[in-house]
Amino acid sequence: MPILDLSIDELLTTTRSVRKRLDLARPVEPVVIDECLELALQAPSPGYGELWHFIVVTDPAQREALATLYRKSVHSLGNEASVIPSKIQDSAQHLVDHLHEVPVLIIPCIEGRTENLSVMRQATIWSSIMPAVWSFMLAARSRGLGTVLTTAHLVYERETAELLGIPYERIMQTSLLPVAYTQGTTFKSAARKPLASVVHRDHW
Ligand SMILES: Cc1cc2nc3c(=O)[nH]c(=O)nc-3n(C[C@H](O)[C@H](O)[C@H](O)COP(=O)(O)O)c2cc1C
Repeated sequence: MPILDLSIDELLTTTRSVRKRLDLARPVEPVVIDECLELALQAPSPGYGELWHFIVVTDPAQREALATLYRKSVHSLGNEASVIPSKIQDSAQHLVDHLHEVPVLIIPCIEGRTENLSVMRQATIWSSIMPAVWSFMLAARSRGLGTVLTTAHLVYERETAELLGIPYERIMQTSLLPVAYTQGTTFKSAARKPLASVVHRDHW
């Protein structure tokens, strides 16, 4: 059950990337994760079957191994990450340093791989999982949990598949969500470009 008194609009505007304010000392009850996953399963599916899978990692040794792969991935991205503003880099580094301490790591996966597919087929596969990922993040926020959508570990997707026993040839990992209770529950909405600069009415 939700524990925060947030309107739907507040939930949508304050579900932010949480890294520094994850409470690493507070355990997360498995039943709360299951509630969030049940809600995530209500996201749109392509209609010919639900293709999503979620690996929930809580075992300390597995989290440590995942964090090592995550660290290696971020390190290998090097220059690519340098375009990111320093405040976000600082926060991202904090996650690198503490990922193994985050009580729950979730890897949302999808049946099918997108390499060499048409844009239409790629879009169908990615869109069969990312709405569910966002639903999970919203449900988590409503329960006082913080998450951050990360993709860096996918540099070592194959190694992660081996670690977790994921059948790589037919199951694609899409992201990694660290999940923990947040320190404090107040979060601000993000500063965004004005709507007019990103909306195109009737033509580009
Ligand atoms: C597609 C995508 C991939 C991301 N990958 C990572 C990541 O690998 N590591 C990380 O720390 N944050 C990652 N993030 C989180 C962003 O860095 C974070 O959202 C950023 O701080 C911008 O904040 P905002 O989402 O509040 O605008 C990712 C976010 C998105 C949407």
